[in-house]
Parts: sequence; structure tokens; C-alpha cells
Amino acid sequence: MADIKKTWYKEMSVYQIWCRSFCDSNGDGIGDLPGVYSKLDYIQSLGVDGIWFSPIYPTPNCDYGYDISDYKNINPEFGTLDDFKKILDEVHRRGMRVFMDLVVNHTSTEHMWFKEACKSVDNPYHDYYIWGKGKGNKPPNNWLSVFEGNAWEYVKSVDEYYLHVFAKGQPDLNMDNPKVREEVKSIMRFWLDMGVDGFREDVITFISKKEGLPNGFPLPVATGIEHYKHGPHLEEYLDEFRQVLNEYDCFCVGEGPMTSLKDAVDFCSEGPNKKLDMLISFDHMSCDCFVTDWIKTPFSLTKLKNTMDKWQQAMYGVGWNALYIENHDHARIIDRYGDLRFRVQSGKMLATMYMFQCGTPFVYQGQEIGMTNIDIKHLYEYKDVMTFNNYNLFHKILHMSEARFCKLSSQVNRENARTPVQWSAEKNAGFTTADEAWFNINPNYKEINVEAAEKDPNSLLHYYRKLIKFRKENEVVIYGDFKQYYKNSNKLFVYERNYEGKKLLVICSFSADPVKFVAPEGIDLANGKLVINTYDVLEPAKNEFVTKPYEARVYLFD
Ligand code: NOJ
Repeated sequence: MADIKKTWYKEMSVYQIWCRSFCDSNGDGIGDLPGVYSKLDYIQSLGVDGIWFSPIYPTPNCDYGYDISDYKNINPEFGTLDDFKKILDEVHRRGMRVFMDLVVNHTSTEHMWFKEACKSVDNPYHDYYIWGKGKGNKPPNNWLSVFEGNAWEYVKSVDEYYLHVFAKGQPDLNMDNPKVREEVKSIMRFWLDMGVDGFREDVITFISKKEGLPNGFPLPVATGIEHYKHGPHLEEYLDEFRQVLNEYDCFCVGEGPMTSLKDAVDFCSEGPNKKLDMLISFDHMSCDCFVTDWIKTPFSLTKLKNTMDKWQQAMYGVGWNALYIENHDHARIIDRYGDLRFRVQSGKMLATMYMFQCGTPFVYQGQEIGMTNIDIKHLYEYKDVMTFNNYNLFHKILHMSEARFCKLSSQVNRENARTPVQWSAEKNAGFTTADEAWFNINPNYKEINVEAAEKDPNSLLHYYRKLIKFRKENEVVIYGDFKQYYKNSNKLFVYERNYEGKKLLVICSFSADPVKFVAPEGIDLANGKLVINTYDVLEPAKNEFVTKPYEARVYLFD
């Protein structure tokens, strides 16, 4: 058995807050920090050990906070630095931790550095960004952005184009400039010195671009990505940032879209060269769509199992996994990998399936009450730059109508995760006292809300609490290895975990129909204790049973 180093961040569960939609305290329709403060009892009641804040810095909101105009302050829509410090102190007093989003692949065009950079090519900030001369009236190369057409934008005052691999309002920083790296380190120290416990590093694997910025392989979006998804100096820069983290008792999880498992293992391997403590992979989020969240395809359980299995095996005893099934970038999971006809049951099964694997589980706001996708019928109701870009593409390439696009998009787009949290059955789901929230509230809030879930002993909310508590109290869930059974089944996901003589058997049915489960050879359910179950199990343990819709069971063998 691999020798696993025990550390606090491996033992924690984390709750993610996307502040704008969490809780509005001042009636302006926008979630804010005092709103978060007012819900700390609730967050703590989940049993989580930390909160990750998606960006809460000043921003013009072209990508809702992922375009930062001041790294050392708080978005005035959300409150003040004092509001943040109050939360930080209170969260610490309660024995939990706080993690910030560190978005340093790009800034906002509203950042002072960028404004200066545009003044002249001699300005000291000019080289903070990536510039290129046009070719005739064409941009420097053929790169396309992920969010907004061409990856280059012309600036007349300097007669050059700046690079933005995301939206136009998100110019890429030139990480090859040592001064920029010093700025990043200063940002990290600013928050760490204040007491923050670590970072989630946004698209951190994109920070190094290939010298000469050569043309990329033509794609409908993100042409050129092969030249920056793992650029030539990535490791070097990650090491440099790691030095800062090593000065503190903190952790960092990097976001790595398209990062290969091999690279992820390299980055996260224990030892002096460790760059990241864990990595947010997208692999397991593409089991029902073509290119993350673009076009819905039928869900493939075998794909999910294979992907998860690979990451579990490769990281075990070497690095560490970040476990998640929802965040602000993906549509709600019950609509995707679960079944709305069995919302609570399939939600419980999905929670069990991912949380009991080896890694640190993240829970995204609203996931714990089983919030679902929203049906938006008109483009004008959408808010996200990515949705608009996708519409332009589908319209341009496939001549798709707006109505058809909205129908398709509403199943997969990330805006589904950004509707306000449904706190109660009251007006605006108890999210705001304003006449209208900043974004549509899912009309199902009367049925799906925190207050109702609190009252129902069988709710998903109580179940999440149970899972989080069980994980915390049982090292086999945290540190056990991972072995899968029924690998070819397209209905069952079954795995076991082993740690210091204890075994956990996790059985999850991904089917509404009855499925026959027979205990794997060598396992006698009668010797185990049923510790987690999503339906009452009345009969004495037998080595086989027929599952109920989306049933999950966990047996512990001492
Ligand atoms: C990844 C973030 O999770 C996403 O929300 C954002 O749009 C992009 N990075 C760009 O910062």
C-alpha cells in the first residue's frame, strides 16, 4: 500500500461561493459579502472545512469577476475589504478556512496596468501584456479566443494588437516579464498575509505562451490553444509561485482545462518539485457533451467510470485529486448525469459516487439542495459572454435560429449554475428583497429551496451533511485506495476503498430500472455494516440485491 502523507487539505471538504448569486443583503438584487456573512451558520452546518470564493475583486463584469481591475480590493457591488476581513475572522473563529480565486492569466482591460500599457509602447506597463504588430490589416496570427471571436484586439494609440485568449475585456498578462511574476507574488502575499488559506488558480496552465506565437491549428474557437495549454515556461513559473506558497501554511488547487493526466500527476506529485496540491480537471465533465458544455450528447457512464478510474489510480499515493461534479462553469449535475424524475434520489447517488473517492471534495452552492438547470427561451435573458459567443458561432456556421440555440444551450451552458441560490419559497426565493434579482430565479424555487430541505429529514441537504461527516470521521474515505468493479456495466458504478485494514464498498446505480447487484468475489456483505443508504434496507444483508431507482449504498468492513 502506498504511503500517503496526511495533510489538512486532504481531509477537508470545501464549499464554493459564486457571490453574485449567493445571498443579497442590501436589496440591490446582487449577492454580496454581508449576505455570505449572514449564512455562515448554514455553511458551517454542512460540515465543510473551507470556503472557496470565486473572484470577489473589483471588476467590470465582462466575465463576472474573472476580469479583475484591482487585485487587492473587493468588488464594491459585494462590499468592502472590511466586510471581507470580518468574514475571514469569523470563518477562522469557526475553525474553517478561506480560499481566494487567483486569476493571473489575464486582467481586465479596466486594470490600471492595462490602461497604462495602452498609452505608449514605452510605458513601463506596456510589456505587462502580450502585443503583436498586425499583418496588413490582419492580426498578428490566426488565434481565436475561447470567448469572443478573434484573440487579438487592435489599440490605435500603440498601433499594436493585444492578445486575449478569453474575452476582449481579458487581456493576457505577459508572464515572461519578471515584473509581472513579481506582481503575482505580491498579490499572493497580500492575501496570505491577511490570513487567507490558499488559492484556486484560474486557468493557471495557460500562463506561458509559445515564443513567436505561431499560427495554430484552425478550430471554431480557441485556435492556437496548443501553443499555450502547456507552454514552454509553465513549470518554471509554477515553481516560482510555489516558493511563495511554501512560506505559508496554505494550499493551492490549479485549474487545468485540457491538462493531461500525466502532466497533472507531474504537477501534483509530492516532493520538492510539487507545483500544485491538486488540479481541477475537466475530463470527467465531458461525459455528456462534445467539447466541455457545448453540445449535449447522451451521457456515458462507462466514460465517466473510465475517466475517474484513471485519475484515481494515477494520483493515488503520488499526488492528490480535486473531486467535484459542479461549479460555476458547468450546468447542474442532476440534469446531466442524474435524472430529474428522481431528483433527490439521483442527487444522493451522484453525491456518494464522487465524494467517497480519494481526493478533496468541492461542493458548489445550490448543489447540496439539488438545484437544477433553468429553461431560458430568449437570448436577451442570458448574461454570459460564452453563451453569446456560442450563439454567434452556431448561427454563423450552422445557421441555427435563436430559439433552437436557446433550447440546446439551456441544457448545457454554465449559466445554469449561476441562477440565485434558492433559500426559501418566499418572493425571489429569499435571495433578495429587490423587485428583481440580477439574473433569473429558477421557477422551481417554491419546491426546491433550503428551508424546505431543512424540514425534510430525507432531503439531499441532510444527506450531504451525512456524507461530509462520515468522510471526516473515517480515514478509509479520505486515504483509502480505489478499486473498481463492474467496469463494463452501463448501469452500476461500484468501487471499493481500502485503508489500514478497513474496506469500504460503494455501490451506485445510475438507472431508474432495477439492476441486479451481486457482491464481488471475496466480499461478503453480511460481514459489512451498511453505513450509508439512500433507501431503507429492511432485509438482512444478502450478497445480492436488486437496486431501487438511482440507489446508493455504502458498506464498511472493519
Ligand atoms: C476559468 C473560470 O472558471 C471561468 O469561469 C472563466 O470564465 C475562465 N477561467 C476565464 O477566466
